[in-house]
Amino acid sequence: MASRFLRSFVFIVILLLVLCSFLVINPPSRAYVDPLTGEYRGEGGFEPSSPANEVEKGALAGGVIMPKLGNETAKAELGRATWRLMHTMTLRYPESPTPDERAALKSYFLLQARLYPCGECAEEFMQLLKKNPPQTSSRKVASLWLCHVHNLVNERLHKPEFDCMTLDATYDCGCGDDPVSSSTSGDGAPAPGMIKGG
Ligand SMILES: Cc1cc2nc3c(=O)[nH]c(=O)nc-3n(C[C@H](O)[C@H](O)[C@H](O)COP(=O)(O)OP(=O)(O)OC[C@H]3O[C@@H](n4cnc5c(N)ncnc54)[C@H](O)[C@@H]3O)c2cc1C
Ligand SMILES: *[C@@H]1O[C@H](CO)[C@@H](O)[C@H](O)[C@H]1NC(C)=O
Repeated sequence: MASRFLRSFVFIVILLLVLCSFLVINPPSRAYVDPLTGEYRGEGGFEPSSPANEVEKGALAGGVIMPKLGNETAKAELGRATWRLMHTMTLRYPESPTPDERAALKSYFLLQARLYPCGECAEEFMQLLKKNPPQTSSRKVASLWLCHVHNLVNERLHKPEFDCMTLDATYDCGCGDDPVSSSTSGDGAPAPGMIKGG
């Protein structure tokens, strides 16, 4: 009885050892199908990562992509639309952004500088961003930074300086869900004005 038990025990131990060594010699395949592209990544392929958190290395550092935009009317229309988009974005940006959200906003501006459809404007804007890197630590900081940068463009184009204390009133988009001056924390408690008294 005892020797039979001993034999089964030894058999099981050997079986486990064989199984373990099999796993060490042939680790489970790390191949997978990329959920985004459907591409097959073979053995030794890189781990799936979160593409949303990454910008291709080098994409942020490259030069201006678009050609010169000759048509002055189109240039001005594009400018007004773009400033509108950017100011509205910074004024709806979180008051307490996460590191990921901060990286996203910074990348946005750097990529916009590269991809802006008026090439000669983009060259100037890239130089401007080098001297005035995007500030992303809060809604207030980001929107005042952008207002300052817009004023620097105004100055170069001999346009009047904008009073950044009136940002709130100018860009309240009436979007409904969350007034520009309110907290984004979700508790519904009104916060002090973003600029005024904030
Ligand atoms: C990144 C970028 C680079 C550009 N570079 C050039 C260039 O090199 N050459 C060129 O000819 N044009 C350039 N433009 C376009 C130019 O800035 C203007 O958009 C365009 O000339 C139209 O001017 P605008 O007088 O209608 O007012 P815009 O400057 O377009 O402003 C639109 C409105 O925003 C408000 N505003 C003005 N200043 C501010 C501020 N500081 N903060 C918040 N709100 C403000 C005002 O109500 C204004 O009427 C550029 C635009 C952008 C976005
Ligand atoms: C310049 O752009 C404006 C606005 O996009 C357009 O209406 C106009 O026809 C353009 N002019 C020329 C000469 O292409």
